[in-house]
Amino acid sequence: MKSISKNNSKTKSRPRIAIIGSQFFAKQMIPYIEETGQGQVVGMFDDFEPAGLIKYHRSLLGPLKDVPLLYKNGQFDSVLNAVGYAHIEFRKNVFLQMKKHDIPVTTFIHPDSYIDSTVTVGEGCIVLMNCTICANVRLGDNIYVGPKSYIAHDVVIGSHCYVGPVVSIAGCSEIGESTFLGITSTVIDRIKIGKHVKIGAGAVVIQDLADYVLAVGVPASIKKNFNLTNKKAVP
Ligand SMILES: CC(C)(COP(=O)(O)OP(=O)(O)OC[C@H]1O[C@@H](n2cnc3c(N)ncnc32)[C@H](O)[C@@H]1OP(=O)(O)O)[C@@H](O)C(=O)NCCC(=O)NCCS
Repeated sequence: MKSISKNNSKTKSRPRIAIIGSQFFAKQMIPYIEETGQGQVVGMFDDFEPAGLIKYHRSLLGPLKDVPLLYKNGQFDSVLNAVGYAHIEFRKNVFLQMKKHDIPVTTFIHPDSYIDSTVTVGEGCIVLMNCTICANVRLGDNIYVGPKSYIAHDVVIGSHCYVGPVVSIAGCSEIGESTFLGITSTVIDRIKIGKHVKIGAGAVVIQDLADYVLAVGVPASIKKNFNLTNKKAVP
């Protein structure tokens, strides 16, 4: 198990974290980061809120284009990507922009989750409370795993995926990059799900899914194929 200690010492210096986004996701992350002793949130960046505004007792530091300059000026040590699941492509682009400027993206693992010591976790992943991630799981970069999710042994999850709360993924399954799994969805073992797939809340996936589809229901069936270039569903 990764040893992630709860550290409430006020004297020890904690990494200064700026959050990208200032909506509910950011609001939720501030106490998680600070109460687990994993950092101190110095403010937020958001293109849609005026710089200087105070939200959740923190300041809006500016639009996203200001992140590299303020980082270079030493105002924070890393960022946390709090762009939500409705904007998975944007969430990915935020991560890639940060990497282009060599800005560290915080990996946050809630100490109440169990992560087997053989698990590999990429940069910028967020694993919230009460998750179990079993042996040999490989998580790419910039993945979100919601509370109470269970990821069984040997699962591979591609970068930029968003795994909602209370999701179960059985052993040896593979999920492609930028895929979204809705709340309480289940994937049985040895399933391959493509990239940019959306799995609806409560779905049970029992067969492989190609890239760019929406699958819903029990058992899950394909409802849409996505054409990302014009953002329309194609028959
Ligand atoms: C799948 C989802 C993302 C919607 O995606 P979308 O591309 O906008 O899909 P639409 O709303 O256009 O729905 C397409 C069809 O699928 C159906 N559908 C959507 N979600 C469904 C679900 N979870 N279960 C069953 N059917 C569902 C719709 O009724 C619609 O059916 P129709 O074509 O017969 O009318 C959303 O319904 C969902 O399940 N969200 C999960 C939310 C969640 O997990 N939140 C927690 C994040 S922390």
